[in-house]
Amino acid sequence: MKKEMLYEGKAKKVYATEDPEVLIVSYKDDATAFNGLKKGTIVGKGAINNRMTNYLMKKLEEEGVPTHFIRELNDTETEVKKVTIVPLEVIVRNIAAGSLSKRLGLPEGTKLKKTVLEYSYKDDALGDPMVNDYHIFAMDLATPEELNLIAKYANMVNDYLSKFLLECGIVLVDFKIEFGKTSDGTIILADEISPDTCRFWDAKTGEKLDKDRFRRDLGNVEGAYAEVFKRIMG
Ligand code: TMP
Ligand code: ASP
Repeated sequence: MKKEMLYEGKAKKVYATEDPEVLIVSYKDDATAFNGLKKGTIVGKGAINNRMTNYLMKKLEEEGVPTHFIRELNDTETEVKKVTIVPLEVIVRNIAAGSLSKRLGLPEGTKLKKTVLEYSYKDDALGDPMVNDYHIFAMDLATPEELNLIAKYANMVNDYLSKFLLECGIVLVDFKIEFGKTSDGTIILADEISPDTCRFWDAKTGEKLDKDRFRRDLGNVEGAYAEVFKRIMG
């Protein structure tokens, strides 16, 4: 049973339940980009992101990555383990795109010789600045042991998802994940894995099948979300 709303983010709401260790996440159709500057609606996104995230988290659990997923309640709502979010956006990149292309002058689509792991400090007022392990330890955002585990899980997520998605005709260009800490201090995968938080390119045509269609006004945003959903969920 949903109790009071604890938090409303740009794409999700979080509710308390009777169990202090359990929360309910409710996915919205609202879309934002550029730190909330651009606003819109992607019809059906809430249901797609909820169901896709749950499907992929279940698979990742089987691969040995602990996640916050408990059970799907309906199309847009899911019960998750309560965590304190580690205030880092963990970004994994296989192919140059987006902010990495801009920063380093690498054309979008350049295959990276080695997978790149980046961290951003989750702070909207600061625009989520990139940080390295020194900043993370200096600010006590995570301990060395926690960051080791986060990096290990991020690589496991990348290895599993890249392979699985390619079988669905999708290239995993890059993605952002977040981790949380349960009340006993265990680090688990939280947040979502969806076209909002990943770059998905059609393996044959290179067509963008993710939120870049919204960010860059490429059109057919809903169509791209539906296509990815169909390919992954069958
Ligand atoms: P970037 O190239 O803009 O830094 O984005 C890297 C990846 O992170 C990309 O898959 C989109 C995702 N992302 C988010 O999930 N949330 C964000 O706020 C941003 C900026 C990117
Ligand atoms: N979700 C982020 C925002 O609204 C940015 C993004 O996904 O591009 O700012």
